[in-house]
Amino acid sequence: MNRYEALANTLADEIRSGHIPIGSRLPSLRHIIAQHGVSQSTVLRAYYLLEEWGLIRAQERSGYFVTPGAGVKSAPKAQAASLAESTRVDITDLVFSVLDAAKHPGIVPLGSAFPSPLLFPSARLLKSLVRGTRSLSPWSTVADLPPGNDHLRRQIGLRYVGMGLSVPFDEIVVTNGALEALNLCLMAVTRPGDAIAVESPGFYAALQAIERLDLRAVEIPFDPVTGLDLDALGRALDKYPIRACWFMTNYQNPTGVTLSVEKKKALVELLGARDVPLIEDDVYQELHFGRDRPLPAKAFDTKGLVMHCSSFSKTLAPGYRIGWVSAGRFADKIQRLKLMTTLSASIPAQAGIADYLQYGGYDKHLRKLRAAMRSQLTQTEAALKRWLPPEVRWVTPNGGYFVWLQLPDAVDAMALHRLAIKHGISIAPGPIFSATHSFQNCVRLNYGHAWDAKMEDAIRALSEILNDPAVRVSGVGTAASEEVSRGNL
Ligand SMILES: Cc1ncc(COP(=O)(O)O)c(C=O)c1O
Repeated sequence: MNRYEALANTLADEIRSGHIPIGSRLPSLRHIIAQHGVSQSTVLRAYYLLEEWGLIRAQERSGYFVTPGAGVKSAPKAQAASLAESTRVDITDLVFSVLDAAKHPGIVPLGSAFPSPLLFPSARLLKSLVRGTRSLSPWSTVADLPPGNDHLRRQIGLRYVGMGLSVPFDEIVVTNGALEALNLCLMAVTRPGDAIAVESPGFYAALQAIERLDLRAVEIPFDPVTGLDLDALGRALDKYPIRACWFMTNYQNPTGVTLSVEKKKALVELLGARDVPLIEDDVYQELHFGRDRPLPAKAFDTKGLVMHCSSFSKTLAPGYRIGWVSAGRFADKIQRLKLMTTLSASIPAQAGIADYLQYGGYDKHLRKLRAAMRSQLTQTEAALKRWLPPEVRWVTPNGGYFVWLQLPDAVDAMALHRLAIKHGISIAPGPIFSATHSFQNCVRLNYGHAWDAKMEDAIRALSEILNDPAVRVSGVGTAASEEVSRGNL
């Protein structure tokens, strides 16, 4: 472990134990340097790491402060799914019923999976679409077949270089959004009946893909503070013939948690030792609030076992449906599967995004987008504190656009969702994020839309709906569980 990682761990322990209280300012740089005998850059790097973990937050000209969410304890066992038996998945009806209900125009989109399209540079992108398409050769229909448009793949490769990673050009396969990349990866490494490790709670599309391909899910607990439970994963790997893992390492959907660098390394080592492929879903990586883009687990892969999937859907152009996978040793197989399923990603859209990445000012746009998300998060948290009862807990995310609420134990999030829809508000209820329909008292909220009076009213309305006896599970008390309640905001 590096010195700055060791220092970050020491400070994290002090924060979690309450030694450095919630809301307090971290000791001065000078103090930490003297106390721990480390350099200024070590302290700063440790602070960046703590920020990445969501434990501290920089305040302009005032220093670093411990975030309210830093006190949230790990979910008690009853809340986080314990290591489930390998499960045949039946999630699709539940997910569609929730997503369909939220599709009506005019609904306040707190349950949406998308950020506001108004945050994207559509006019500038259109210019790139025109330019990119104009310069296409008539032969591009053939030339841009999988693995995809060379210009675009080079631009994607450059973004890896920007993170200090050199990903071979041949590994990058362009797909119809990240979702296709993830599905192709799963198809490349499994056969019907295989067991796949997924996070719990985790992105419902992973469960839907598992259901569609007739696979079995092994749910690995994902803690709302520390993320993936690596010990549980180790035990699952001992117990089941797990064929592959499908995990998020940055700003996980739905919890917003980012795994520490050590955890990413340990994950890659654990899987590498057993030759188990990792399908890494990293669609929110560019939406970091800290200084640097968090590294993917792919950064630590020396065996070609990690398939790193992402897209431009969450940051630039959702409707263009352009994503990719950097597929390691599986690139050829994935390329063929792509040809056999949807043949190619849209050729004009590939050319347009390639042109935008080269000339359109993507990094400048991302800086604006992150600032918007961060300010929307601040507004959302302020409204949550204003209106929701104090037993409601969450960890302040450090990127992405989701916040995962733990409501009092007695709340039935599915009932809350049904009543909220009647009031014109969508939420994403916890049970859609687990094969076993757990997390009955949890809800994912989206803060990826401009804050306005409608949002404020929606959160106030949710607080009123929470008082309705119809959202209570019978026989469960209303207080939040003891362990979680210590992380009060
Ligand atoms: C975690 C996660 N992965 C993948 C996707 C799919 O991305 P795309 O729209 O690029 O297919 C989504 C979209 O909601 C998502 O939330």
